[in-house]
Amino acid sequence: MSALTGIPELRDLAREELPDLAYRYIMSAASSGSAAAGNDAAFAALTLSPRVGVDVSDLDTSVELLNSRLPHPILLGPTGCHRLAHPEGELATARGASTSEATYVVSSYTTTPLADIAAACTGRWWHQLNPAPYTRYMRDVLAEAVGLGAEAIVITMDNPVAGIRSAQGWDGVTLPDGLEFGVLGRLPGALDNPSDPLDIYRPALDASWSWDDVAALCDEQPVPVLVKGVLRADDAERAVAAGVSGIIVSNHGGRNLDPVPATAAALPGVASRVAGRVPVLVDGGIRHGEHIVKAIALGADAVLIGRPYLWGLAVDGAAGVQHVVERLWTELRMTMALCGLTSIVDISSDVLWDAVG
Ligand code: FNR
Repeated sequence: MSALTGIPELRDLAREELPDLAYRYIMSAASSGSAAAGNDAAFAALTLSPRVGVDVSDLDTSVELLNSRLPHPILLGPTGCHRLAHPEGELATARGASTSEATYVVSSYTTTPLADIAAACTGRWWHQLNPAPYTRYMRDVLAEAVGLGAEAIVITMDNPVAGIRSAQGWDGVTLPDGLEFGVLGRLPGALDNPSDPLDIYRPALDASWSWDDVAALCDEQPVPVLVKGVLRADDAERAVAAGVSGIIVSNHGGRNLDPVPATAAALPGVASRVAGRVPVLVDGGIRHGEHIVKAIALGADAVLIGRPYLWGLAVDGAAGVQHVVERLWTELRMTMALCGLTSIVDISSDVLWDAVG
């Protein structure tokens, strides 16, 4: 892999590198796959309106997020089972995230214990949980994560039941021999697959979770709580009322319900309803630095990536993850310079050629 390897080329390299099961797990999407494809297409379709004749010799890509100053607005979103992609799994991701200064949101489907990830992560990390019965188990995991240094908690809201995948995609949580779940393995029965494959309820997911539970969680937790998987502006309002510290506009990379709007289409409505009361982040289809400029122009404070860093992990472990973030960061700087934007706060809908509304 050369320094010039772009994200789409990495996907092709990962396909060559990975066993079929792992590649299908990473790429799988709900139903026809139109939501996953739609995410990519929506960011790609927006055209930019470059301003020339601006002094762009000094660029500032830093952002303020949850009272921390980050050097760039790229986070690694929560994705499960990194040891399917690379033998060093989440440890390699943690190292790659740290060297590229990207906040790593560790999935509850990690195949490495949290304590080991925390030890490998010299940078910032958050912990993502699917709603589990908010009993002792979830409290224990959250307390452990916070004790180990997780700076925020992300609750995934768009997964009350399993996503609609076909046998082509991987819709199960059974790992090949030798691999174990680092967090979920401690919840008795969580990983039991229902005896009826069409039983939509899964022991690891709590289908009864509602905004009242989110409000209780926000009250109890000593760190900021964000919700992930919001597309509707009225749900964003409910999230703010529940006391969240941030909202992630996401359709789970198109892996759960299909069709749903592309996140680039849902983002402006959420951002305008939230109106700066809490940060709004977005994921789904971020493949180039210019997509980050577009996401911020549509109202995001920062972006998360999913599949791209898994491709990097598969191809070159920690160095591959680092490469993906640094490549996007470089492309972000180039896009800003080519559009006449010197800092992230300069980015507004003015940089989009077509009005969004
Ligand atoms: C995911 N995603 C996800 N989300 C979550 O909240 N918890 C999880 O455990 C997972 N696991 C997961 C596994 C894999 C293999 C993928 C690809 C995705 C969704 C993820 O956080 C994010 O929303 C999307 O991946 C973003 O879209 P892109 O960047 O993959 O297009």
